[in-house]
Order: sequence, then structure tokens, then C-alpha cells
Amino acid sequence: MPSMLAIRALWVLNLFISSSIAFPSLDPIVPRAAASQPYEAPGPGDARAPCPALNTLANHGCINHNGSDIARQSIIDAFQAQFGIEESAIDLALVNAFVVCEYVTGADCGTTLKNLTILAEPHAFEHDHSFSREDYMMSYLPDGAAFTDNQNFNASIFQSSLDVLGGSTHVNYKQMNQIRLQREALSLNNTVPGWFVESKPIQEFEAGFIFAVMGDFNLPKYNVTPKIRVEWWNYWFTNESFPYELGWHPPTVPRGSDFVLSASSEVLAARVKSTPAPLVSGAVGTADAPGTLNEAVATTTYQIPTFEPYAAAGVGGADKRDVSTSTEATATAVPVINPYMQTLAPSDIAAQQAYATSVMSVLSSMSA
Ligand code: HEM
Ligand SMILES: *[C@@H]1O[C@H](CO)[C@@H](O)[C@H](O)[C@H]1NC(C)=O
Ligand SMILES: *[C@@H]1O[C@H](CO)[C@@H](O)[C@H](O)[C@H]1NC(C)=O
Ligand SMILES: *[C@@H]1O[C@H](CO)[C@@H](O)[C@H](O)[C@H]1NC(C)=O
Ligand SMILES: *[C@@H]1O[C@H](CO)[C@@H](O)[C@H](O)[C@H]1NC(C)=O
Ligand SMILES: *[C@@H]1O[C@H](CO)[C@@H](O)[C@H](O)[C@H]1NC(C)=O
Repeated sequence: MPSMLAIRALWVLNLFISSSIAFPSLDPIVPRAAASQPYEAPGPGDARAPCPALNTLANHGCINHNGSDIARQSIIDAFQAQFGIEESAIDLALVNAFVVCEYVTGADCGTTLKNLTILAEPHAFEHDHSFSREDYMMSYLPDGAAFTDNQNFNASIFQSSLDVLGGSTHVNYKQMNQIRLQREALSLNNTVPGWFVESKPIQEFEAGFIFAVMGDFNLPKYNVTPKIRVEWWNYWFTNESFPYELGWHPPTVPRGSDFVLSASSEVLAARVKSTPAPLVSGAVGTADAPGTLNEAVATTTYQIPTFEPYAAAGVGGADKRDVSTSTEATATAVPVINPYMQTLAPSDIAAQQAYATSVMSVLSSMSA
């Protein structure tokens, strides 16, 4: 692993290079005043993910609005143009997504992601203790329900993340680590015995993503120690739309894997004010290589959630997601096999792990 300092140095160097030399992957984004395409709420048949960023792109039609049959390249292009996220920052997530796609559909997905809903396959890429989603299994499951909605934004779960901030307008690394631990403790307190699995390697990446796109560029040390602007973060997650009306724009220098890995490692390394309880052993401190998926632990089949996208469910209120023409609830459950709970086709996992290892070794050699 490269040292934090080395990653930081590399990142600062990138910023420097981009201001003087035309470097293709670092072309600055010209800030706009609005999204390139207007927001349109998802309808009941549209597929959405447990990922606020992919949902935002779909809601704005920057990737297929129906959330299905999404070309891999369209995801790369949309993140670069709309969120200021370079391909290097999402390569690992893309590999993971296509591994999940193959297992859920039972066929190689090639370069077309079947739909965004497959990403909610529990304990695969999707994980427990999310910032804004319920875990697939929770002790308060409604009577007769097989599982909770682990896919759509949940306002009370997200509020339990924001509560940690005690009204602060910005989030620093320390506070993000505190939020992460609080979410783990709350999940553990509300889990079904035997269900909870900690997923630091994926969540730390997601924390890095939030610093990458919602860092407040009005603050003096934005390029060194970014702080998330809470009103932007809240708008983004709640509406699954770009917070342009609050003065946001994407980072002008696109963020790559160096930035995301640096910020996420800083989060895990930051000393928290108090340690919530309960936590699994090893919850505090650094993790395995960021981004790696859970491995097979048992042989069980789970149903993939097919809840309607949040907007289509018409929960009522003033936010964008509540503006919807649909009222019909058509949630059904399709039985699928959780790849990570089955005997794995070794080739895919080997490919995923080899990829993760190669990403890490490229980073190490760059900073050596
Ligand atoms: C191809 C690229 C990507 C894929 C396949 C993907 C997929 C996912 C998935 C499956 C989750 C659910 C994890 C959970 O259970 O909480 C997730 C969460 C998340 N994603 Fe993405 N993601 C991608 C790129 C991004 C990017 C570029 C950003 C930010 C700019 C982002 C931001 C987030 C955040 C913040 C969460 C956590 C949500 C929460 O905890 O409530 N993602 N993503
Ligand atoms: C997404 O694809 C899966 C697997 O083919 C399928 O079971 C599910 O119904 C699809 N979801 C939507 C919303 O299209
Ligand atoms: C989703 O939209 C794309 C682009 O319009 C289209 O090619 C595809 O067939 C649609 N898929 C479904 C399942 O509706
Ligand atoms: C959101 O999560 C809470 C638990 O924190 C749960 O009681 C509630 O039913 C969920 N809301 C929706 C709309 O799923
Ligand atoms: C979890 O439950 C225990 C026992 O009720 C409580 O003491 C603790 O504060 C709870 N943790 C969180 C983070 O709420
Ligand atoms: C969501 O968008 C609406 C309409 O643009 C806005 O009024 C509202 O404040 C946003 N919600 C949040 C939580 O920022």
C-alpha cells in the first residue's frame, strides 16, 4: 500500500499538472448553472439502485432513464461529465457491478448492465449499515414481509447519519468516521441475529465519493482537506438530483481514484470523539483493500428486492422525488441466487480479485 502522504502528494501533483498541461483524463469541467438535462422522477417500472449517484444520473436521463440495459461506457461518460468523476475512480465499482450482474442474471452481461435494481442484491455489492438505506434484514421487519427495502433512500435512516453532526453545516473526515461507526452500531442494534456483515471496504469508498463530489469548494482548504457541505449532500441524497439551485457544481478538476482512496483512508484513520456501541471487533481503524466485495460465506438463496423507485412510490411531500404521476404499487419478489452465498464460479471472483490487486499495485508503483 502506498503511504497516505504519497497518495496525497500524487493528488496534489495531479492538480498542478492539470493546470499547466493538457492531460486528457484531467480536462477541467466548465461549471454550469444547471444540469445538462432536467430531472424527471422515475416511474413504477423504472429500475433504480441503492446508489444515489447512479439514480441521479438516471433521473436526469444521463444514463437510461428507465434504469435498464445501461451501456458501461455511458456510465463512465456520465460520471465524468455530470459529477466530475474520472473513470479511474469507478473502474473497480464497474467490475464489481458486472460481477454481480452475471451472478444475478446467470449470464455474462458483456458491456450492458441489465438494470440498476440488481445492485441491491444483498451482501454482494450492497451492504449493511448504509448511510441512507435500510439493511435487507432488520428486527422490525413488517409482519409477513420477507425483507426490508434496502434499495431506496430512507429519510429516517439518513437522518440517523445527519444526527451525528449535531447541526454542523459541514462534515470533516473525523465526523464522517463517527457517522460510519454510528450507522454500524444502529444496524447491529436492529439486526436479525446472524444477518449483519460489516462492509468497510465498500463503504469507505462511498465515503470518499461523497467528499469528492459534495466537498465545499468555497472553503479555503478545499483542495487539501475538503469538507462536505451538508445542505448539498442532503439535497443530493433526498432528491437524487444535482443541487445546482444551492450553488453546487461538479468539481472543476475531475476526481480520480487517487482522490477517492486518499479521502476514504483519511476517514477510516480519523480519531473519533466517542465510540458508539455495539460494534464488531475491528470496526475502528483501517480496512482491507478498499472496494473489494464480500466473499462467499454460506449457501443460501435470497430474493432480490424489486421495490418501486422512491419517487414512484409517491410518499407525499415537497421534495422532487414525491412529484410523480404514478400511484400503483406493484412490488413483487423474484427469487435469485446470491452469488456470494453460493459456490462461486471461480473465474469471476478470481478476475475481480486480480483486478483489485492490480489497481492497488499500480497505485503503489506510481507513488514509490
Ligand atoms: C459504476 C459505478 C458505481 C456503481 C456500480 C455503484 C454502486 C453502488 C451500490 C451497489 C451501492 C450500495 C451500497 C450500500 O448498500 O449502501 C452504492 C452506494 C453508494 N454510492 Fe455508488 N456506485 C457507483 C459509483 C458511485 C459514484 C461515482 C458515486 C459518487 C459520486 C457514488 C456514491 C455512492 C454513495 C455515497 C453510496 C452510499 C449510499 C448510502 O450509504 O446510503 N457511487 N453504490
Ligand atoms: C432487473 O433485472 C432482474 C434480473 O433479470 C429482474 O429480476 C428484475 O425484475 C429487473 N428489475 C427491474 C426493475 O426491471
Ligand atoms: C431502457 O431504455 C433504453 C434506452 O431508451 C432502451 O434501449 C431499452 O430497451 C429500455 N429497456 C427496458 C427494459 O425498457
Ligand atoms: C425507513 O426506515 C425506518 C427504520 O429506520 C422504517 O421504520 C421505515 O418503515 C422505513 N421507511 C420506508 C418508507 O421504507
Ligand atoms: C444499542 O442498544 C443499547 C442497549 O439498548 C444502547 O445502550 C446503545 O446506546 C444502542 N446503541 C446506539 C448506537 O444507539
Ligand atoms: C429537493 O428539491 C426541492 C425542489 O427543488 C427543494 O425545494 C428541496 O429543498 C430539496 N430537498 C432537500 C432535502 O434539499
